[in-house]
Amino acid sequence: MATLRVLMFPWLAYGHISPFLNIAKQLADRGFLIYLCSTLINLESIIKKIPEKYSESIRFVELHLPELPELPPHYHTTNGLPPHLNHTLHKALKMSKPNFSKILQNLKPDLVIYDILQPWAEHVVNEQNIPAVKILTSGAALFSYFFNFLKNPGVEFPFPAIYLPKVEQVKMREMFEKEPNEEDRLAEGNMQIMLMCTSRTIEAKYLDYCTELSNWKVVPVGPPFQDPITNDVDDMELIDWLGTKDENSTVFVCFGSEYFLSREDMEEVAFGLELSNVNFIWVARFPKGEEQNLEDVLPKGFLERIGERGRVLDKFAPQPRILNHPSTGGFISHCGWNSVMESLDFGVPIIAMPMHNDQPINAKLIVELGVAMEIVRDDDGNIHRGEITETLKDVITGETGEILRGKVRDISKNLKSIREEEMNAAAEELIQLCRNSNKYK
Ligand SMILES: *[C@@H]1O[C@H](CO)[C@@H](O)[C@H](O)[C@H]1NC(C)=O
Ligand SMILES: *[C@@H]1O[C@H](CO)[C@@H](O)[C@H](O)[C@H]1NC(C)=O
Ligand SMILES: *[C@@H]1O[C@H](CO)[C@@H](O)[C@H](O)[C@H]1NC(C)=O
Repeated sequence: MATLRVLMFPWLAYGHISPFLNIAKQLADRGFLIYLCSTLINLESIIKKIPEKYSESIRFVELHLPELPELPPHYHTTNGLPPHLNHTLHKALKMSKPNFSKILQNLKPDLVIYDILQPWAEHVVNEQNIPAVKILTSGAALFSYFFNFLKNPGVEFPFPAIYLPKVEQVKMREMFEKEPNEEDRLAEGNMQIMLMCTSRTIEAKYLDYCTELSNWKVVPVGPPFQDPITNDVDDMELIDWLGTKDENSTVFVCFGSEYFLSREDMEEVAFGLELSNVNFIWVARFPKGEEQNLEDVLPKGFLERIGERGRVLDKFAPQPRILNHPSTGGFISHCGWNSVMESLDFGVPIIAMPMHNDQPINAKLIVELGVAMEIVRDDDGNIHRGEITETLKDVITGETGEILRGKVRDISKNLKSIREEEMNAAAEELIQLCRNSNKYK
């Protein structure tokens, strides 16, 4: 059998590129040739994450976006993108359709794996008679909840652990109502495969429900395989500091690369951490071009009062290395799907502080799994320092923490033991799909 040549096309966010890259490596290990298609700025940022052994089997393909005046090339990524330009970036990516089409004509891949966030790609791919497979870089609870909401309006979701508060339901309805023309709808009908970055270990019933609702073959690819943890010299000081703390005593606080706390939330988090008396590493980043001095945004005198008990960083932190560290006993997270999977993989309980989109659903799922506690926002969408403090004490020093840690470590073991099997099954599906399409024999 000839080598299968696959073009992969993630949404321009690190949180999407990273799971695509992970799957790319797994497929390359199984003999596939991968073309990873993205903008230059994104490709440059991941080049270091591709070990030498993939230099032949994972190739980069640069996609040129049109140069809109408000979107210079360093904004052709969501990393650090000011949130108000999010839609412009979506628009620019869609405008690059002719360039994407040209790439396909030149490369003639056997298969395209594209991000469900850019459904227009499937039409371009199908025009050239190339089979397409979509990837959802989130989980099955989320997808089935949304799909049920769209397809069966008014019908309650059959799994009561997963629900959204009223405020979020309203936002979700608005999001879908904005939802645009024909081309942006997902194709239904003929045999469709959707890969999903999850595992039956944690979402079996939701995966089955996805299949039931959508008629697609929904194939879990398992949690990401972690790269070996490297001892980057830049992180040495931080890791040494973490090493001086007791086992399970420190909480890692990070809200992902695209989400930024409001001024009010930031203050509540700061006081919550201060009053809880637990050790912490807090990643407090700002959008590119809107950087601020930490002293100016944190409560007055915060850093002095905290002293050696905590660290506040305004840059990326080595998240896997921190989660893998024995001193780490909990993770305050926005519950972006990658962070959730990473925390489960490393066996660290989560203190869920979801903000938008998929995050509130993800939070409900991990609470159901028994590995998280949620900081619930009030009816006006605010969080409160008192609740943060109490939850932190429960998880870091209380009995609740012991129970959560026991449970999350079991899940971590189970995820690891099924990982190869799930990925093998997914690769086999892709091979079959290409065999069944006319072009590939
Ligand atoms: C940007 O928009 C996409 C889809 O419209 C959404 O999924 C994503 O969460 C948005 N990002 C931010 C930071 O709002
Ligand atoms: C296509 O790519 C070229 C550069 O090769 C760029 O100048 C142009 O703006 C792009 N067009 C669109 C519509 O993205
Ligand atoms: C840290 O948590 C793990 C998992 O619950 C537990 O086995 C270990 O004893 C804890 N360490 C301490 C010092 O409490």
